Amino acid sequence: MSHPYPSLQADNTLGLAIHACHRVIAETPQAILNAWREAERNRQPFILLGEGSNVLFLEDFSGTVVINRIKGIHIEQQEDAWKIHVGAGENWHTLVESTLKQGIPGLENLALIPGMAGSAPIQNIGAYGVEFRDVCDYVDVLDLHTGETQRLHREACAFGYRDSIFKHHYQHGYAIVAVGLHLHKEWRPVLTYGDLTRLDAATVTAQEIFNAVCHMRRSKLPDPRVTGNVGSFFKNPLIGREQAEKLTGSYPGMPHYPQANGDVKLAAGWLIDQCQLKGFRVGGAAVHQQQALVLINAERATPQDIIELAKIVRARVGQKFDVWLEPEVRFIGAVGECNAVEAIL
Ligand code: FAD
Ligand code: EPU
Repeated sequence: MSHPYPSLQADNTLGLAIHACHRVIAETPQAILNAWREAERNRQPFILLGEGSNVLFLEDFSGTVVINRIKGIHIEQQEDAWKIHVGAGENWHTLVESTLKQGIPGLENLALIPGMAGSAPIQNIGAYGVEFRDVCDYVDVLDLHTGETQRLHREACAFGYRDSIFKHHYQHGYAIVAVGLHLHKEWRPVLTYGDLTRLDAATVTAQEIFNAVCHMRRSKLPDPRVTGNVGSFFKNPLIGREQAEKLTGSYPGMPHYPQANGDVKLAAGWLIDQCQLKGFRVGGAAVHQQQALVLINAERATPQDIIELAKIVRARVGQKFDVWLEPEVRFIGAVGECNAVEAIL
């Protein structure tokens, strides 16, 4: 028998079989506003989604899910830069590809990150030495209470590692409707990470970096169209210098990245890997064989399978290293987002 409510299985890259009371596709800011007002009138929970590549639904959603599909790309050429205004519902990777094809470099390190352009500022997407903040000019945010749109310039977005003001002050009652990018014509390759360090800065092209990034990503990250996942399930932990020194004393091979403020970032994937958890399975959920930081929907996983697996991973790493991982993924309950750390204590 078919389910009475719309399915969100294709709207979350984990591919969990979740339903919502209402599923609305919004192609304009006004459509988001209308759906919000309707939900408010009916006192129903409301949530926005792009591609659902950074969410874990814990259960069916008892309200309205608005799928952002606001399109439009406008490129303005200035003397020293390209200014690109992008509708929040444009696919990020397609944007990266199409700018490169038009001879506009700058986004190549951020190739193959799933999701919408309008979601990119929320956790300040980052990969291979570049973050969204490095290319951000502004973010346009619709205040759902007033119907007015505000433009926040980069400095106002409080970007940090997997963090921004859109996870704090602008989390509830706001929708990102567009982003503005600023790409310098004087292009400088960023070759600080992984295999990119082997490339020659004097001769490398943006297309070659794009190709190398795609190659590295395809070799370790599962394609969500084939195997459900949300990329890195946990954030890379930041710890104090003293604890880092103790750990590097005990584990000389441990990857560690000193930060400007004295903290040290560790590789959560390495910590999980050291607990021999690659391939570890709970029900239909598993730790990915090629990258231990990725939890996958191996076979008809339920939200409970993923949660149980995440609990075990967090506990094992905590017991072995006294480092307590926090999810990067946003946990969504029946009426809205919940505290992800509490859900896996
Ligand atoms: P969603 O998952 O749909 O939404 C994320 C959150 O934002 C939710 O809380 C949602 O309610 C909210 N939201 C969505 N749209 C809006 C809006 N318009 N206004 C306000 N709030 C909104 N991330 C990285 O940083 N680096 C990586 O290298 C990376 N690699 C990945 C690889 C894979 C295979 C996968 C599956 C994910 C990866 N991610 C990575 C995570 C993910 O791609 C990013 O977080 C992406 O920006 C999420 O976009 P989305 O449109 O799918 O957002
Ligand atoms: N490692 C292992 N075993 C593993 C996984 C990783 O030993 O199973 C080691 C690697 O050998 C390497 C280190 O851990 O020395 C880091 O691994 P990797 O380069 O794969 O990157 P990561 O730290 O796991 C981060 C981001 C990714 C981003 C890549 C590239 C976070 C939480 N994750 O992953 O972002 O694509 O760097 O820049 O910061 C995401 O956020 O969803 C995501 C995929």
